[in-house]
Amino acid sequence: RPDPRVTRIQSLVRTIADFPKPGVQFRDITPLLADPEGLADTMAVLVDMAPDEVDVVAGIDSRGFLFGAPVAVAMGTGFVPVRKPGKLPGPVFEEAFDLEYGSSTLAIHQDALRPGQRVLLVDDLLATGGTLGAAVKLILREKAVLTHVETVIELPDLGGRAKLESLGVTSFSSILQF
Ligand code: PRP
Ligand code: ADE
Repeated sequence: RPDPRVTRIQSLVRTIADFPKPGVQFRDITPLLADPEGLADTMAVLVDMAPDEVDVVAGIDSRGFLFGAPVAVAMGTGFVPVRKPGKLPGPVFEEAFDLEYGSSTLAIHQDALRPGQRVLLVDDLLATGGTLGAAVKLILREKAVLTHVETVIELPDLGGRAKLESLGVTSFSSILQF
């Protein structure tokens, strides 16, 4: 039987064709963010999907912050931002990558995580896996333990799961697939 929370979340994601480039079906989460029940349901499902053994939540600039920080509060952990370049003030590790509609770089503070810390990595959406893959590499470079990766949305046709598996991610879940 479908989870009524998931049905509600699905109904609040809007599709906009040809944004930001021709051919892309953009999955817009702004109606979901604007809806009080939908927003609360999303955080609750993300917490339900996560393992209990998490020391810290990491989230990706910028839509991943919207979900990662509230999940950290709900789980009673701190939050670590994985950021676009030039934003973090201290010494960083960096990873360049390609995503569905462009390319970018992500960075993490070198002292953001301790070796062995159990990390839950959160983003809004998995497409090609370029973005989450770069974040995974940064977290592993810190010698932290990636216990689970989760997103609100997954676009299975773009092969993100296989990309994450190739980087050693053994635990991934998403709320919705488009
Ligand atoms: C979007 C989205 C994911 C990523 C997924 O981020 O928030 O992080 O693309 O695509 P991929 O799996 O092909 O890498 P975007 O770079 O648009 O930045 P934003 O979060 O700041 O909007
Ligand atoms: N990030 C990468 N691909 C996306 C898509 N199709 N919709 C929204 N965000 C995305």
